[in-house]
Amino acid sequence: MSSTDATPAEDMLIIHGGTPLEGEVHVRGAKNLVSKAMVAALLGTSPSVLRSVPAIRDVEVVTGLLRVHGVDVELDGDTLYMDPTSVESAGVEEINVHAGTSRIPILLCGPLLHRLGRAFIPDLGGCNIGGRPIDFHLDALRKFGAVVDKDADGTHLSAPNGLHGIRYELEFPSVGATEQVLLTAVMAKGTTELRNAAIEPEIIDLICILQKMGAIIKVHTNRVIEIVGVDELKGYSHRALPDRIEAASWASAALATQGSVFVRGAQQTDMMTFLNVFRSIGGAYEVNDDPNEGGIRFWHPGTALKPVALETDVHPGLMTDWQQPIVVALTQADGLSIMHETVYENRFGYTSELRRMGANIELYSDCLGGTPCRWGRRNFLHSAVIAGPSKLHAADLQIPDLRAGFSHLIAAMAAEGTSRVYGVDRYITRGYENFEAKLLGLGAKIERPTSTLANRR
Ligand code: UD1
Repeated sequence: MSSTDATPAEDMLIIHGGTPLEGEVHVRGAKNLVSKAMVAALLGTSPSVLRSVPAIRDVEVVTGLLRVHGVDVELDGDTLYMDPTSVESAGVEEINVHAGTSRIPILLCGPLLHRLGRAFIPDLGGCNIGGRPIDFHLDALRKFGAVVDKDADGTHLSAPNGLHGIRYELEFPSVGATEQVLLTAVMAKGTTELRNAAIEPEIIDLICILQKMGAIIKVHTNRVIEIVGVDELKGYSHRALPDRIEAASWASAALATQGSVFVRGAQQTDMMTFLNVFRSIGGAYEVNDDPNEGGIRFWHPGTALKPVALETDVHPGLMTDWQQPIVVALTQADGLSIMHETVYENRFGYTSELRRMGANIELYSDCLGGTPCRWGRRNFLHSAVIAGPSKLHAADLQIPDLRAGFSHLIAAMAAEGTSRVYGVDRYITRGYENFEAKLLGLGAKIERPTSTLANRR
């Protein structure tokens, strides 16, 4: 484990591995939609209601950001009420309280420019999985007519002449930049045409929300989205689509630990690519499409898992956030597997910890087993070869980011012996609701260090 890490000793989970996960978990609304839906509420002239909101830290962060801008936010169970009728400017210091905790502030730009004529964004956080620049966002905002001014505090934006529709082509179908254009274009003067847009299910759900609010958005073929600006949007009422990343994480945990998990709420349509991969590795699943109690049961059928060659891609390809839990499961497959990461340049850092646990994983800068991508030319270690099956043994692990963190948990549960996983409160709680209770419910043998338990009493 890295000695330079500043994770407090009590931010740790003790995992006694080797027990198959068996039972049921319930997955609520998608983290990657809920935070954006909360930003969309800022655009309304009346209150919005969002249902199936998970209790995760990213929701708390956006709640904080909305509140400093005068939005009244109330959570009742898993329903969020947001009243933006008194939106107001916030001071740099108030906003900076949220600096470094999430990348969502960048998406507030368009709505705040429409509502207040100016916006401020602090330095951005989010997972440390590559450079994660915001050049597409700022470039598009400038073209809409925003004036962007960076100083030591962060980035200040204003729109002295209002915002006007644009014709814009993204260099890469970025999820965040597509959302930025949507949230800005809906109330810009005139029509916007966005080419090479991302079309992830969470983006389509955001478009549904904006349409409910009164927006006119046409999703054409070939990643073209056309938005006709309107003068006013009202509040919305919406149920967030389920979290397909969390669902895939539990599915991979079932496979890696030779267990069986029913993921209530998981939806087949948004997970088709994952389901194909799961089956080709040798995992089994069954879809229950009951509207209330439905979900997908994932299990290890007891036969050897098969190696596969995969690459991540934008939707409808294999999602980059599914990569890490799948790699852990592939350490148990019988033969050589390949994972080519094409979305982020630096998303295999977590494999060094897996190697210490006995996994046989080598990283390469070539685009292995798939289409040449932009990272191959630039020498990033973005392809992994996984030779399995490996007997994983316990280790002390340091979580580097949210998704990698959950894959460390899976590895520790699949391993023989007792592991200590550091950074669970800092990272896992950002995107996994009640993960400890869910793990316990599935029969995982986990505990907190005694000092933490004493503090919590
Ligand atoms: C979102 C998701 C994240 C997921 C990712 C890709 C949220 C909160 N997070 O992140 O879970 O892994 O989509 O599906 O929804 N890029 C630029 N310039 C930019 C913006 C992006 O070069 O201005 C690059 C990024 O460095 C990356 C690629 O585009 O290589 C994709 O990033 P993007 O789709 O924007 O990811 P996020 O929206 O940050």
